[in-house]
Amino acid sequence: MYLEMKKICLLLAFTAFSLAAVSAAKKQAARPLDIDRTPRLIEIATDNTELILKVNSDGEVLFGYYGRPVSDPSPLTEKKNYKRADLGTEPQAYSVQGGREVREAALAVTHSDGDLNTQLRYVSHKTERKDGATVTTVQLADLKHPFDVRLVYEAYPAEDVIVAHTEITNRESDPVILRNYYSVNLTAFADRYFLNYFYGEWAKEMTMAEIELTHGIKKVSSLKHVRAVHCENPSFILSLDAPLAEKSGDVIAGALAWTGNFDLSFEVDDLDILAVRAGINPYSAEYPLASGETFSTPNAILTFSSEGAGRASRNLHDWARNRNGVYKPEVVCPTLLNSWEGAYFKFDAAVLKKMIDDAADMGLEMFVLDDGWFGNEFPRNSSKAGLGDWQVNEKKLPAGIDDIASYAVSKGLKFGIWIEPEMVNPQSVLAREHPEWVVGNNGREQTTMRQQWLLDLTNPEVQDFVFGVFDNTMKLSPHISYIKWDANRHVENVGSSYLDGRSQSAFWVKYTEGLYKVYERIRKAYPDVMIQACASGGGRVEYGALKYHDEAWTSDNTDALSRIFIQYGMSHIYPAVAMGSHVSAVPNHQTAAVTPLKFRFDVAMSGRLGMELQPKDLSDGEKEFSRRAIADYKRLRPTIMYGDLYRLRSPYDAKGYASSMYVSKDKKRAVLFAYCFKYQGGYRACRLKLDGLDASKRYRLKEINVQNKPIFWGEGKAFGGDYLMNEGIEIPLKKLFSSAVFEIEEVK
Ligand code: GLA
Repeated sequence: MYLEMKKICLLLAFTAFSLAAVSAAKKQAARPLDIDRTPRLIEIATDNTELILKVNSDGEVLFGYYGRPVSDPSPLTEKKNYKRADLGTEPQAYSVQGGREVREAALAVTHSDGDLNTQLRYVSHKTERKDGATVTTVQLADLKHPFDVRLVYEAYPAEDVIVAHTEITNRESDPVILRNYYSVNLTAFADRYFLNYFYGEWAKEMTMAEIELTHGIKKVSSLKHVRAVHCENPSFILSLDAPLAEKSGDVIAGALAWTGNFDLSFEVDDLDILAVRAGINPYSAEYPLASGETFSTPNAILTFSSEGAGRASRNLHDWARNRNGVYKPEVVCPTLLNSWEGAYFKFDAAVLKKMIDDAADMGLEMFVLDDGWFGNEFPRNSSKAGLGDWQVNEKKLPAGIDDIASYAVSKGLKFGIWIEPEMVNPQSVLAREHPEWVVGNNGREQTTMRQQWLLDLTNPEVQDFVFGVFDNTMKLSPHISYIKWDANRHVENVGSSYLDGRSQSAFWVKYTEGLYKVYERIRKAYPDVMIQACASGGGRVEYGALKYHDEAWTSDNTDALSRIFIQYGMSHIYPAVAMGSHVSAVPNHQTAAVTPLKFRFDVAMSGRLGMELQPKDLSDGEKEFSRRAIADYKRLRPTIMYGDLYRLRSPYDAKGYASSMYVSKDKKRAVLFAYCFKYQGGYRACRLKLDGLDASKRYRLKEINVQNKPIFWGEGKAFGGDYLMNEGIEIPLKKLFSSAVFEIEEVK
């Protein structure tokens, strides 16, 4: 016994010694390098913009400039901000709590010894070419602790986009706590700052607002998680010195790629300097970073435009399409009929097959079976039961999913299906078998939302389960081409029985990391299946999710009038190729609005067109109209999906018009959309100055979706590009819900 004890003691002593030796070595190796105090500029350039950081003689890396390229930026090294340096107001490239910093910090750390301060200094930087981008990495180190930060900026020259993220490495021998860990910190110097941001709620996403920033902090943020971007979107357009205009003015636009709580923080200080921070929302989200670990923040996608909002949007769209901001942007999701608003939970194989017949008859290209196809002990006949039990409901579909999918394929359609794998109804076999998988299973009341609970994706077993739901669903038929992935609640009563007591605050980050792990696995296993990001409509319209999804479901609000606003907002940041847009029945199920079928098609055709209604309720005339519209859309589709967007009239200007056009990159083709949603009086016409065309080319205008006779006197005539853009055209849109779509083509 004594000998045994002695052995154990020796072993423990040896282990303790070895651990101490290891950590001492780590500590030594990680000691900050000598600080290079040579003043220098770090230039990050795209074709038409430049972001410049400057290193001062203290080795601090400061924010220098973001705007149009300057031929000789060297005076920036000399630029003394008068007494600002003494006051601690000199803006850092990445603001950190510690030293003289008095603003809210992009990075705040509690070091392993409890020190709340960090003072970063320049160590080195390098620039490399990678996949068409110029990647600049700036290495920084703390003055006191072995603690490193790397600022990474990927510059995409032709798109004028800079994608920034930060990597934070703990080389201390014990864990540190990250309290703030934003992706990026920008500074702007102007007299006035006009912030344009996007807010809303369920069925009212991407509503736009502009406010002038005054001293203090304005935040656009989410604390809801999961469908985190329903109520505020992680994107902004900042207009410098004047309110936002479509074609002129200096603007900085940005979007954060993160499927979780985010924070965009705009702080105007006492010297009228604006600091913009974008990143994961640090509220209640302290993150323990173990010794030797690196934390990488999500990407912030930034652009500068000296030609107003229009150019900023086109830059972001180009980036999303050219650089896979959207998964496989070269794949356009087909026109489709979705079963939701047409059948809800009430269907059987015969109902679905009839819908498929009608979809094929109208020329649609895919049928998507929405919610309601699963659950046996707890059948999914309403939102009350069945989530979690992803077995085909034998009563509704005794011959299985393949029966429906093969039927669709036999009619020339692709087939898609709905899942909501992160969720569970209390009334389900899954909830009975795995109560420990539920978020908030912490001895408090578990609140339901839409009668459901959330599964804890921080837990690898849950990650396997969620992957399995996707995988098993795909195995239900070899004919599944498209998955609609939904998520219909957010986090309340946060808590994970997988994470230990001290790591609970890491839930917010670890859930999203778990989700991304699942997405990665799915994309490896199913690189070609199309996936739609849906979260009660537009709750996942952001670039973190879009990286793995071919498109998003823009909103559960399918009313064409509401969609004019929602899609106008979305178009500022996200491209049409990501925007699912469906024609539904009237009175609209969300708003009760009654709009003409033509108006509904004219609006839906400006995104990825689909239908979401019971086609058997359409008259023969309506079916014929739909058939023609769908056929025309297929021809116009490449221009809408891949063309440059020019917004001509804003629905927000109180005139009751909205208009936009897409112009093909070679400027040979364009599609023009114009909508009137206020009665205008007897004689008024909608004036439109077209944009984005080649001034020296001639174009013919042909109306699409004509109802009785063409609305425009110039139908079929050729006009000079300069005429269309300077004199413009007038279209007699004056009645409520009147609209027009024109196909514009170059004539030789
Ligand atoms: C969410 C989606 C809808 C539909 C329903 C099904 O609300 O946003 O499109 O799929 O769920 O329950």
